[in-house]
Amino acid sequence: MDMRRAVTDLLREAILTAFPDIGVDSLPGPEMLEVPPDSKLGDFAYPCFRLAKPLRMAPPKIAQAIAEAANQPEVATAQPVNGYVNFFFHRANFAKNTLETIDKEGAGYGSQPDTGKTVVLDYSSINIAKRFHIGHLSTTVIGNSLKKIYSHLGWRTVGVNHLGDWGTQFGKMIAAFLRWGNWEMVEEGGIDALTKLYVRFHQEAENNPALEDEGRAWFKKIEDGDPEALSIFNRFKELTLKDAQRVYDLLGVTFDSYNGEAFYNDKMGRVVDELRDKGLLVESDGAYVVDLEDYKMPPCLILKSDGATLYATRDLAAALWRKDNYHFDKCLYVVAYQQNLHFQQVFKVLELMGYDWAREQMEHVAFGMVSFEGQAMSTREGRVVHLDDLLHRAQEKALSIMQEKSPGLADMAQAARDVGVGAVVFTTLLNNRIKDIDFWWDRALNFDGDTGPYVQYTHTRCCSLLRRAQEADLTAFPDYSVLADDEAQAVLRLLSRFPEAIRAAQKDNEPSVITRATLEVAKAFNKYYYEHRILDGEPQQVAARVMLTRAVRDIIRLGLSLIGVSAPERM
Ligand code: ARG
Repeated sequence: MDMRRAVTDLLREAILTAFPDIGVDSLPGPEMLEVPPDSKLGDFAYPCFRLAKPLRMAPPKIAQAIAEAANQPEVATAQPVNGYVNFFFHRANFAKNTLETIDKEGAGYGSQPDTGKTVVLDYSSINIAKRFHIGHLSTTVIGNSLKKIYSHLGWRTVGVNHLGDWGTQFGKMIAAFLRWGNWEMVEEGGIDALTKLYVRFHQEAENNPALEDEGRAWFKKIEDGDPEALSIFNRFKELTLKDAQRVYDLLGVTFDSYNGEAFYNDKMGRVVDELRDKGLLVESDGAYVVDLEDYKMPPCLILKSDGATLYATRDLAAALWRKDNYHFDKCLYVVAYQQNLHFQQVFKVLELMGYDWAREQMEHVAFGMVSFEGQAMSTREGRVVHLDDLLHRAQEKALSIMQEKSPGLADMAQAARDVGVGAVVFTTLLNNRIKDIDFWWDRALNFDGDTGPYVQYTHTRCCSLLRRAQEADLTAFPDYSVLADDEAQAVLRLLSRFPEAIRAAQKDNEPSVITRATLEVAKAFNKYYYEHRILDGEPQQVAARVMLTRAVRDIIRLGLSLIGVSAPERM
């Protein structure tokens, strides 16, 4: 049973008893119940101020009358305080309701049936011939988590890796490869070998400007679909994706499409023609732009003077193609806030083209920068943290902590992987996405802090309790009154509100709401664990505490899975 609903019913009944003449329109809905900041003030509070006008009465008097009329102690009792009616759940029944619901719904707790809606999520979107570095960590894990959250809430999801596989740099890279490189060298050295070739190209081009023309010529060939150019470029692409796949496998991240910038090559005509037909395209120094002065933005560049299209042109084509092919109800772009202006421009141009859906359905899910132990990343100064290095180091560190803490652990490598990778993901999703993140090893891997390992450890604690409980008599009917203490109630309150956290995370496209809610469950359960002996006492009492433990285990596992972190049973 949903407590908010149950208390709303109780409240409405009390209002009707106290004020039989009140109009139905004045009766409150479930959203009118507030959650008091301090649980000593009750589990829900109803502010009576809204009724003052229709009833022509002072709120404290109204509260008094409602509280007196409230008569369902098996759900909650009511107390009037300064114009509020505070409701206190019947603790044992609240425990029973909450735990039975979680027991029944398990991993589907807080989910919603098929909404028939589709969300397209553009995330990770790495660039070809660059190694996967921590600048692409947030987009990858936020996007992955949002995909899971939406699908839990009944949406069809389409995950798109909008590859950065277009641009003049790729022509230069081919020119450099043909002059100084070969396949052995590239297969062996991987992306780093490509980067070296590219750096050399720029160095040599300073004294030999003809190289630039050569690069441009090769890019033109890619554009024109020349087989040699494409075959070289496609191998660069494969190499990058193979490298990235290792990271995606570790993170458990998947995509439904890798259609990136190049995919839209043959779909640009429509955008340009439509912009021209709608009178939006204006010439500016030989280039073509959409003027956005009325909206206080610089013009959106559509075509360069040589006729080449731009990043924005490709995003316009991509938006139209996705709308036509996926019929999305929402399209999310999980991209750093540095691209705020770009997305504002793209969305505005679509709107000016007459696509009203752009305003309601497209959203830039922006996030902050990642730095590492106080140092911002800088490609130029060579301070780049590669994601595979980071994840491997995290696993090694987790392994050495576990070797010390739980030396006999079977399958330690797998646990180290879950904990190390989980620590990185958890830290990335802990705070509001717009905040910059400074990553510190000691903090991320700490077993007692606001960390992934702490939450995972709590999960293993539940698993271990449940293993031991199997020896106890579990056929006993649970006596839920044993969960009436403050610590158990604090856990139950968090469990019962977990579905609201999932919905809030979706509403704001903010996975950190779930990270936080899961962390709170773990903290509250540990507090309970230190104050109460779970497996001691009468079988009925043990049975109730075991129910609580199992629910905590299930919700931690669910919360972690929604943010893309695994929950090992032992660590
Ligand atoms: N590849 C781009 C980058 O690394 C991100 C692309 C984001 N998606 C998009 N549709 N523009 O900055």
